[in-house]
Amino acid sequence: MIMNLTQKILKEHLLSGNMTAGEEIEISIDSTLTQDSTGTMVYLQLEAMNIDRIKTKLSVAYVDHNMLQTGFENADDHLYIKTVANKYGIVYSKPGNGICHQVQLERFSKPGWTLVGSDSHTPTSGGIGCLAIGAGGLDVAVAIGSGRYFVKMPKIFNIVLKGKLKPPAAAKDIILYILGKLTVKGGVGRIFEYSGEGVKYLSVPERATIANMGAELGATTSIFPSDERTLEFLKNQGRENDYRGLSADEGAVYDEELVIDLSEIEPLSAAPHSPDNIKTIRELAGQKITQVAIGSCTNSSYRDLVIVSRILKGKTVHPDVSLVISPGSKQVLTRLSKSGALNDIIASGARILECGCGPCIGMGQAPETNGISLRTFNRNFEGRSGTKSAQVYLVSPETAAVSAIYGVIKEPSILHKDIFDEVHEDDYYDDNMVIKSQGDMDAKVIKGPNIKEFPVNKPLEDSIFKKTVLKVGDNITTDHIMPSNAKLLPYRSNIPYLSEFCFSSVDSDFHRNCKNNEGGFIVGGDNYGQGSSREHAALVPLYLGIRAVIAKSFARIHKSNLINSGILPLVFADAKDYDDIEMFDEIGLNNLQSRFKSGEPIKALNKRTGQEMELLLQVTDRERDILLAGGYINYIMNFTM
Ligand code: F3S
Repeated sequence: MIMNLTQKILKEHLLSGNMTAGEEIEISIDSTLTQDSTGTMVYLQLEAMNIDRIKTKLSVAYVDHNMLQTGFENADDHLYIKTVANKYGIVYSKPGNGICHQVQLERFSKPGWTLVGSDSHTPTSGGIGCLAIGAGGLDVAVAIGSGRYFVKMPKIFNIVLKGKLKPPAAAKDIILYILGKLTVKGGVGRIFEYSGEGVKYLSVPERATIANMGAELGATTSIFPSDERTLEFLKNQGRENDYRGLSADEGAVYDEELVIDLSEIEPLSAAPHSPDNIKTIRELAGQKITQVAIGSCTNSSYRDLVIVSRILKGKTVHPDVSLVISPGSKQVLTRLSKSGALNDIIASGARILECGCGPCIGMGQAPETNGISLRTFNRNFEGRSGTKSAQVYLVSPETAAVSAIYGVIKEPSILHKDIFDEVHEDDYYDDNMVIKSQGDMDAKVIKGPNIKEFPVNKPLEDSIFKKTVLKVGDNITTDHIMPSNAKLLPYRSNIPYLSEFCFSSVDSDFHRNCKNNEGGFIVGGDNYGQGSSREHAALVPLYLGIRAVIAKSFARIHKSNLINSGILPLVFADAKDYDDIEMFDEIGLNNLQSRFKSGEPIKALNKRTGQEMELLLQVTDRERDILLAGGYINYIMNFTM
């Protein structure tokens, strides 16, 4: 059967379902990654699963996001991740070893493997021919514990690369060009598969830059074939044994296609405040800048930084500009040091930061008020830099380095052509900041005071009688449910503490009402749970004993987070019934088991009014089973392991 590259990898990993776009499939997972900001919750969830060994071939826990140690919280998180990784046989990458996606690409990902990671830029490994998907923390915990992952089969979108880039255009400009064409919504429900003769002119780090920013298109993932360039990259990592050639069959069929002539692409920038607000550098040239930041999982490879060093060599950073550089990994930094490139960077007046996410996640280097910052990163949303009034432009490392010298946005010179062509990866590598463990179930896991257990629900009873502990209107966001601000961020692994802030902007008594009534029901209007995909907006209500949310309608992702937590998302059959419910009304849900199975509406009795309402459970068969089991963790334990 003739298949494209995505179909080939999915077919090798398919456990259930058929590969029809829009239908749910279950695939086996070879590898996982976590970073520290999402990782603590992933490992608390994994512990709650009570497994005796991990089911992936390789799982890696990175510390690269919250590396500031201005209080005990982050350091406690790191220690917890290190010790829990040791217990389960998960590889631990120490703080300073590098950004998860850069290190994963260099040291771990393999062509033809599947990877799920609790970070949205996990698709970076698509640059090496790995099918790499960013997922929610619970999905990653389940993938580690069961080796399985469920996903709606995306459409496969073929991007055909014709011709060759003309310097000074760079790989970053290719993905900025695609973002300009397809927008930040253009990839939703799609996998971008790259093909065409233009692919062979791109090295693995360049392909990874493109795959990385597929996340900004909203894509499920992006993937490149594995070819001689992949072999060359793996050889330089001492990993040629991990090589496997992979590409689409001749005549493979795709759902959609876009042909791009690489020779027509010129240096570009994503102007404030969206990655798809694309302008040419020619249009922006002359704009004064105050900061240049080079790094992030998009552009911090050895190749990127050697090019930067060649541009900076013998020059001085403009007096009005602060140039900060965060190498993607310890390996990149060591290679730069060995080759002398680091000297040229330092001599120019650049500031070297440690290997990690740093300014990309707002850990330092916030620009000054109204500052204009040129960044090689992947996101430029308002305020993400830490300064609300700052204007952030996303550019290639080439444009960033040249502009840092001149103090204005400037196109790299065509004279740099030779630089772009001649860079070859060094072959230095070592893993001495990586701790590999065989797993030791008796090993001690150290949980500082900031690490609290993960709440697990119980299987669904046949009837539930509870009070209405909150009644809210339409368009309640996940931010209303569980606020996330700088003060609360270090407490992501401390659900009891976070619970004191649940719905705090809506009803300051909510936390107390839940405690006094041993949980209860929430009654909501239309579009309940809209906004960010925050899992904590379901986990915290679960901790507080919320058994069901009865609403006029739900936002899609929050509904699925409620289901994963075992909280019933029930919809009024008649929206007018919403008006009849008052705070503290006691509601009884009866014959849940039989009605779940038959698909009949659930009858709810309001004790105060004596009236009966009909409530609908609009879920798939698998979601119904998850609710019966009392949440995703119980479901995986009971039904599929
Ligand atoms: Fe880190 Fe920024 Fe990438 S936070 S993982 S460098 S998007």
